[in-house]
Amino acid sequence: MQQTSSRVRWNRQVGPDVYQIGLDCPKGYHNTQPGQFVMVHLPGQIAPLLARPFSVFRLIRHAKQTQGIELLYKVVGEGTRRMASLVPGEHLDVLGPLGQGFRITADWHKVYIVAGGIGVAPMVFLAEALKPSGGGRRHQQVFLGGRSQGDLLCADAFQAMGIPVHISTDDGSAGTQGLVTQPLQTRLASDRPDVILACGPMAMLKGVADIAAGHGIACQVSLETIMACGMGACLGCAFESRMPDGRYRHVCLDGPVFDAAQIRL
Ligand code: FES
Repeated sequence: MQQTSSRVRWNRQVGPDVYQIGLDCPKGYHNTQPGQFVMVHLPGQIAPLLARPFSVFRLIRHAKQTQGIELLYKVVGEGTRRMASLVPGEHLDVLGPLGQGFRITADWHKVYIVAGGIGVAPMVFLAEALKPSGGGRRHQQVFLGGRSQGDLLCADAFQAMGIPVHISTDDGSAGTQGLVTQPLQTRLASDRPDVILACGPMAMLKGVADIAAGHGIACQVSLETIMACGMGACLGCAFESRMPDGRYRHVCLDGPVFDAAQIRL
């Protein structure tokens, strides 16, 4: 983990209020796990533009060397609005990689990925990491949900990897009308994965975790929360756990990815 002043390589709009930014981070990111995050701060800015967490969307690699990271972000306030105005050559302060990512095990043969809205940010990286090296087989299905069509991101990236994508929107403007948990439940009625991996709004995560528990399927969830420090210093991200020690967990240190059975959603 390190703090760097990272040069912006690109910063392009990829959807309504959604951008992808590429940043030079030549050191320390080689072993980044899907689900880990960085704290980003705009130099010279003060509150409300304090550092904010962003999932690593992808590593920028060239000739087997990690040269930087890419973030997928949505403009939701003044900080991200200013971030969206950055042009190549400008700099951001980046601290990372931070936290605990998805814990992938070799015995998973079938994996369901569930993502809601901008919660898809770590999931393309995750799907790439799930591709078995050495010619083995691992089947993936993706369930993408959003309020409307404009909230659906990265479907083409999953499809380019040959992964079937099930789409749902609250307003029915794309895919099945309703919550992302509906096509998930439909699929589970006939096809059971080894694990469900999810990222999105808290209500969605709770719904997915409940469904997984009801079917006795392992589930990991990546929590989206406000973080001030990202390093366990401010106690602002404490979260109640179900572990026997009764100890609160920090989303920034112990997560953001948790075994869904170990936390109270
Ligand atoms: Fe400060 Fe987690 S964000 S302790």
